[in-house]
Amino acid sequence: MTRRAVSDRTGATRRQLLIGGAVAGLGAAAAVGADLMMNRADAAADAAAPPMNGEQMVPFHGVHQAGIDTAAQAHGVFLGLDLHDGVEREALVRLMRILTDDAARLTQGKPALADSEPELAGAPARLTVTFGFGPGFVARAAGAAPAWLAPLPVFGIDRLQPELSDGDLLIQVAGDDPLTVAHAVRMLLKDARGFAALRWTQRGFRRAYGTERPGTTMRNLFGQVDGTANPEPGTRDFDRVVWSDDGWMAGGTGVVIRRIRMDLDKWDRLDRGGRESSVGRTLANGAPLTGSEEFDEPDFEATTSIGFPVIPAFAHIRRARGEDGERIFRRAYNYDEHPDGEGVSESGLIFVAFQADVEKQFTPMQRRLDQLDLLNEWTTPIGSAVFAVPPGCAVGGYIGETLLGS
Ligand code: HEM
Repeated sequence: MTRRAVSDRTGATRRQLLIGGAVAGLGAAAAVGADLMMNRADAAADAAAPPMNGEQMVPFHGVHQAGIDTAAQAHGVFLGLDLHDGVEREALVRLMRILTDDAARLTQGKPALADSEPELAGAPARLTVTFGFGPGFVARAAGAAPAWLAPLPVFGIDRLQPELSDGDLLIQVAGDDPLTVAHAVRMLLKDARGFAALRWTQRGFRRAYGTERPGTTMRNLFGQVDGTANPEPGTRDFDRVVWSDDGWMAGGTGVVIRRIRMDLDKWDRLDRGGRESSVGRTLANGAPLTGSEEFDEPDFEATTSIGFPVIPAFAHIRRARGEDGERIFRRAYNYDEHPDGEGVSESGLIFVAFQADVEKQFTPMQRRLDQLDLLNEWTTPIGSAVFAVPPGCAVGGYIGETLLGS
């Protein structure tokens, strides 16, 4: 099932510019006969071919940072950094100016300043770079932190590893091409290293670009359709759930990143019926157990002929669903690493949730899931971090200026 591919950041392609140039060039070529025929044939072939995804760009500048309401790209790398001692407000301004400049260039298919491999920047492939500030960053900036900017409360299901948690600065790099993403990550880290050290890296993936129609809800490694009941970018509903209107955060948002291990070896022992009731949706198309299509509304009141709820009391979607204000926007990535134990898998979800207020929207939901959610049998949070994602900036500005400026 597909949903409208949504992003208000569609972006012009470099190809459109190139084709424009080629067509304009034809007038001058008219004098040279054979060349003209060649050019026409080339231009026609060029215009007929579908645009290469590598040429697609997501605008960097804007009210909000890109990489949040952008239709999720195939690859996501999340970097958690710790600021060096002595890096205070003035240095933070320098750091964010440099990183903003890198991001603004790389996302538009241009090399960063002093780019060591400038050729790698030429295929942006919808690259986005999104920055978030941890509690330590805001404290060094001597700014007023949103009340929710702190590590989450401790939950019973947590088995958190400090080396996969927290951090002062988040850099989320996402794109449809892994080489472009790797290059951007390296350039950003090289420019950050005078100010901060890398604390953790998390690499995730979805289906490759072109494998499915744009707008298809992703699947996780349990095989589940994951992301159906999400607010839709570009709607007022999404704006209400995601964007903050508070002080220097206005136009920004909060992000929770949880590394959640999924025990695929244990999941193997569960039959299809059990898998579907643990969530309350079918595996075939993600429809609720009370419906037939993915986007059918679940009927939580429906009962079986013998009086049991069709969507069980322990089902993930029943437990996760909150009151009106208690909603989040999920933009997760899968991970799959070398197995440590006896099984064949070390896999899971880089669970990424955006919401205006983490404490009011995410935390009550996680608390409910901590108390009861059958999925907990197969999932274990092993990393956790919360960041304030500041608003975007205009050309000439920098990310973080609403906190660090003046
Ligand atoms: C590895 C861990 C997790 C897995 C495999 C998982 C999987 C799923 C699946 C398959 C759905 C149903 C389709 C959909 O609407 O996306 C779902 C729904 C949802 N999940 Fe999760 N989830 C996980 C963790 C979490 C966490 C930690 C939270 C928040 C604290 C969460 C919040 C939600 C919400 C809000 C929904 C939509 C519920 C509704 O229908 O209103 N999930 N999840």
